[in-house]
Amino acid sequence: MCGIVGYVGHGRALDVLIGGLKRLEYRGYDSAGYSLQTDHSLTVKKCMGRVADLENMDPGPAACATTGIAHTRWATHGEPSTINAHPHSDSTGRISLVHNGIIENYKSLRKKLLKKGISFDSDTDTEVLAKLVGSEVEKGKDLFTAVKDALAQVRGAYGIAVLSADQPSTLVAARYGSPLVVGVGQGENIVASDVAAIVSHTRNVIYLEEGEIVEITAGAISSSASDPKMSRDRIQHVDWDLAEIEKDGFDHYMLKEIYSQPESLRNAIRGRLDMEHGTAHLGGLDLTAEDMQSIRRIVITACGTSWHSGLIGKYVIENLSRVPVDVEYASEFRYRDPVLEDGTVMLVISQSGETADTLAALRLAKKRGIKTFGIVNVVGSTIARETDAGVYIHAGPEIGVASTKAFTSQTMILSLIALALGRAKGNLTRKEGQSICRDIMAIPDKVESILAGSEAIRDISRQFTYANNFLYLGRGVNYPVALEGALKLKEISYIHAEGYPAAEMKHGPIALIDDLMPVAVVAVKDAAYEKVISNIQEVKARRGRVLAIATEGDREIENLADWVLEIPSVDDMLVPILSVIPLQLLSYYVAVARNCDVDKPRNLAKSVTVE
Ligand code: AGP
Repeated sequence: MCGIVGYVGHGRALDVLIGGLKRLEYRGYDSAGYSLQTDHSLTVKKCMGRVADLENMDPGPAACATTGIAHTRWATHGEPSTINAHPHSDSTGRISLVHNGIIENYKSLRKKLLKKGISFDSDTDTEVLAKLVGSEVEKGKDLFTAVKDALAQVRGAYGIAVLSADQPSTLVAARYGSPLVVGVGQGENIVASDVAAIVSHTRNVIYLEEGEIVEITAGAISSSASDPKMSRDRIQHVDWDLAEIEKDGFDHYMLKEIYSQPESLRNAIRGRLDMEHGTAHLGGLDLTAEDMQSIRRIVITACGTSWHSGLIGKYVIENLSRVPVDVEYASEFRYRDPVLEDGTVMLVISQSGETADTLAALRLAKKRGIKTFGIVNVVGSTIARETDAGVYIHAGPEIGVASTKAFTSQTMILSLIALALGRAKGNLTRKEGQSICRDIMAIPDKVESILAGSEAIRDISRQFTYANNFLYLGRGVNYPVALEGALKLKEISYIHAEGYPAAEMKHGPIALIDDLMPVAVVAVKDAAYEKVISNIQEVKARRGRVLAIATEGDREIENLADWVLEIPSVDDMLVPILSVIPLQLLSYYVAVARNCDVDKPRNLAKSVTVE
């Protein structure tokens, strides 16, 4: 999942490109490059490593260029190297192309071009597209037409920007499957993989549609879509402020995002709780009480951390509304020919709104006539635009690759949906609904009190700096929290960790336990407490070392666990939003102690836009 940027205007293109790449670096950061257009020639610079390394390269006379394209990479085809870095060129070197996505039929296209005597320098799928565009230009076509005709031969996903030495001050960009947005400025235009690279220049953006190709100059944008002249009513205003995408004095975006959860949770709740009727209103879902009553089954689909919040959603929705819920890994769901009967609706959860597998699962459900509702963070993202209706979680930009505030806000939105459905289905009385509303309102302050105790979490985390393995256990609605805790530690500290339903431990993982195996257990005072205590005793009996996430004031567990991290008490169904916070901080502090790059962990990227 790479990041691409293109600029055409009157300013120094290089400044806009490098600035934009830095904002997109969370999408991929193993190599980078740019191509600048001056006096009918292109200057291409590429390097292994970070955008900062590219910034240190000398652009020479092209430093004053006002048109250019750039790329930061997450390798899919061809290992990270300077040769495989983007931009890639055509055979003449007069066409440059940057690409986010995968050209699935690149091997057959490559064979065809090789037969025409065209040679290749890299192992990438993208170079094939650059060579293909070049071969179309050689037929005398202008860049827009050449790109259009080349893309007609391509199968796969792409967000591309293309530059020609022979068409001054002109960019051609196109998207299919990968996101692309155009920033409309005064006498300048920018194209990028997401608005983060654009908002410091303009807040007026146009999200490109699937299959759309645009030609961009400093003063105009013309499109292959229905209205070639890109009427102004396609422009959307982005209301992010730049501070939201700065670190605000925190060492890492991840820590900043962990600490912003009280605020992001307030944003997720704001205007959606109806204390008087003891219910919740999620206008974006556009569901009447009758609609909700007609729901007979819910299928939740997502990937990674979003899947974990979906699993919590299952427990909470079934508990509060008695509507059966299935939680599907999107990558499995899309190829499994799922059974989707009438009365089924789909909830699609995604922070980025661009995850390819989740998008494909959504499209499959739509093709089967299933109503789809999105729970998304990034405004204007593809999943947000393609679901029938949906709810923005309003967590603000999440830049750290390891998702934190999006997870708790997704879980909050699922709890609000469960409450509304429980009331609409008559499974919850108004009084019960009001009590849940009160508990929900109290959550952000309770998160604040947990964050206030982060010093203790940092001290305890030092014990695990050199751990090689870690087990996470939880029961019921806290089992997905164990999964999420394990995922966070894996993602950013590279320690092998597994999450398990606590009772499942006896059926295998208990074999792993010895005095070198730390075991984190979510052991709050809920209906499963006694059972969890016996699971902890089973671990202790094998000399395992236990870190317990416990309810404030629980003295019993202090005699059992090696370390105890307390959280305030709250309704059982809302505990996951609190119990995950100490696990987020634990993984953060362990990763920092191991000198890991917390915001840009190896081999990962923030939004997985290819299959
Ligand atoms: C979580 O920390 C990871 N970044 C990853 O598992 C992520 O949750 C997954 O790729 C889904 O992303 P999405 O929510 O943007 O669809």
